[in-house]
Amino acid sequence: MSPRGTGVAGRRAGVAGRAGAAAVALALLAGSATAAEMTPPKDFAIPRAESSPGGVTFSHARHMARVGRCSACHMRDVKMKRGASGPMTMAALEQGRLCGACHDGKTSAGGSVVFSLDQCDACHKD
Ligand code: HEC
Ligand code: HEC
Ligand code: HEC
Repeated sequence: MSPRGTGVAGRRAGVAGRAGAAAVALALLAGSATAAEMTPPKDFAIPRAESSPGGVTFSHARHMARVGRCSACHMRDVKMKRGASGPMTMAALEQGRLCGACHDGKTSAGGSVVFSLDQCDACHKD
């Protein structure tokens, strides 16, 4: 093979490698990975509505300790981009969407029932 031919093959291999990495990333996003394979973001404040009774901080670390899988939320309506899941209103939560998928006083995780939306202070601080 000419050196030029080798160069093209080398570049092709490089492209195939990147495509492989993209496929792995997609598999991770699809929730087929275990928790240990991806580091979730640090705790963050959810954008607060004017009428909100107090700021809500979301903790990936504390949730992962209890629910164990990214897909518990990210295969439902929660997007892997802050602010992308639509407005987090109590009406949406009460319909069982977003946080309301678990915080309904019925769903259990890690052996106990998850606290319900009635416990305002458990989410809304200060
Ligand atoms: C208990 C629910 C829940 C679980 C489990 C969960 N997440 Fe999230 N994640 C959220 C919420 C809520 C948001 C913010 C979504 C929004 O604002 O629209 C978020 C956002 C993200 C973001 C975007 C952060 C940013 O700054 O834009 C990434 C990345 C992410 N999660 C990764 C993960 C990974 C990786 C895992 C598993 C290790 C995981 N999440 C498990 C609820 C969860
Ligand atoms: C997949 C189920 C699930 C979803 C979705 C979920 N949670 Fe939780 N959450 C839990 C579990 C399990 C605990 C542990 C406490 C318990 O069992 O009551 C918890 C605990 C908490 C706590 C107390 C611990 C801490 O982090 O300070 C807060 C606050 C909280 N959740 C807020 C939220 C908010 C806000 C959302 C939506 C953005 C949300 N959760 C979505 C399952 C969930
Ligand atoms: C599982 C967590 C959780 C619980 C429990 C909870 N909220 Fe919320 N709430 C949120 C999140 C997340 C938002 C969006 C961020 C914000 O505006 O602070 C929100 C927003 C709000 C808003 C502004 C948006 C809207 O829907 O009008 C009000 C008002 C509100 N909550 C009232 C309450 C009251 C009253 C309770 C108790 C009866 C309560 N919340 C319990 C998570 C919770």
